[in-house]
Amino acid sequence: MGQSGTGGFACQNAILGIGGGIAAYKAAELARALMERGVTVQVVMTRAAQEFVRPLTFAALTARKVITDMFAASGEETLASAVEHIRVAQEAQVLVVAPATADLLAKFANGLADDFLSTLYLAFTGSVVLAPAMNTNMWNHPATRRNLETLRGRGHTIVDPEEGALACGMVGPGRLADPARIAAVVLSALGRPRDLEGETVLVTAGPTEEPVDPVRFLSNRSSGKMGYAVAEAAAARGARVILVSGPVHLSPPAGVSVVKVRTAEEMRAAVLQHLPEATIIVKAAAVADYRVKHPAAGKIKKSEERLTLDLEPTADILAELGRTKGERLLVGFAAETGDPLPEARRKLASKHCDMMVGNRVDREGSGFGSDDNEVVLVLRTGEAVALPRAPKREVADRIFDHLLKLRDAS
Ligand code: PMT
Repeated sequence: MGQSGTGGFACQNAILGIGGGIAAYKAAELARALMERGVTVQVVMTRAAQEFVRPLTFAALTARKVITDMFAASGEETLASAVEHIRVAQEAQVLVVAPATADLLAKFANGLADDFLSTLYLAFTGSVVLAPAMNTNMWNHPATRRNLETLRGRGHTIVDPEEGALACGMVGPGRLADPARIAAVVLSALGRPRDLEGETVLVTAGPTEEPVDPVRFLSNRSSGKMGYAVAEAAAARGARVILVSGPVHLSPPAGVSVVKVRTAEEMRAAVLQHLPEATIIVKAAAVADYRVKHPAAGKIKKSEERLTLDLEPTADILAELGRTKGERLLVGFAAETGDPLPEARRKLASKHCDMMVGNRVDREGSGFGSDDNEVVLVLRTGEAVALPRAPKREVADRIFDHLLKLRDAS
């Protein structure tokens, strides 16, 4: 099995491009997180970025001169150091841009090269990770959406911004992703083992929606982030990935085929349709356990009377897969309040899985909707591995590390 993406690698070089946005200061946290993992970071700042943070901050942090402009200076000494910087840039395996402004995305998408960072982008041949941050309207603008599609189409990884209060006073998507989350993606790109090459990984993600009437449904708080992180990790490690997704507000990871579904029954049908191709199945979706037996054909009118819904159980997709799994590796998730270990063990056995990911969902910063997760991996051998809270993308890599170790050992 190849190495996972967190530390332990020689000669890991990343270029950190910083765009001109209020989130530029957060790039310092990202630089530090990468350096703590042994990554050499060469910072490149656009002219606009320098309006927000001084290059000296990053020079002090990285113990390297920051590249600030292509044509700013002249003279032998400057030329020599510029050549040195370019050499470092050539040796880098990853270019991460955070914050990636709407302007930078547009330049990259259209191949403009009018400053150091955009020129470097065109000359760079390694992995590219872009962490956009901007005003919500700019993020939602069709021009930005089109540029993102273009960049995704080139295989770049986009670390989507988070929702929240923005510096401009708006509330919505546009806030730079947590630097720890961006660092996890960069580390994975740096370490990128291709140990899932030749595998087809079928992932389910998000909630399902079970209709009550044409305007109402039963659902849960799953955002899809965990399942999408699993799909992204699998694709980064060389797998062909089919992602069966319930209704979520996430962009599909690069290079992943997405099958959109709504109900538990649609999810089951999609999973069964793609089952013959799958060699590994990871069921991170929060599938509804019950559905309304006879959804109303028209909108249920409000009245003073009590309303009773007749619920029937949905098919347990994971249990069904467990009964017919053959050589496939099967991973389930068990979302639990309190210690997840006993239920994870029980579900592992009853659903015939190779691994059950016991997921603590009653703690701040873990489970539904959060960027991080706190899980315990229960393996078919009986071994239980408690992972420290980490970004979901990193948790996803640990799941594959242990799954492949399990297979190699058998
Ligand atoms: O989406 P996020 O916001 O990132 O949140 C992630 C998560 C908390 C949803 C995820 O990490 C998680 O724990 N998913 C499993 C949630 C769940 O449905 O747990 P469960 O214990 O009810 O189900 C156990 C397993 O059976 C799951 O793999 C589930 O996909 C599967 N199942 C359940 C019911 C059903 N009808 N069919 C199924 O296949």
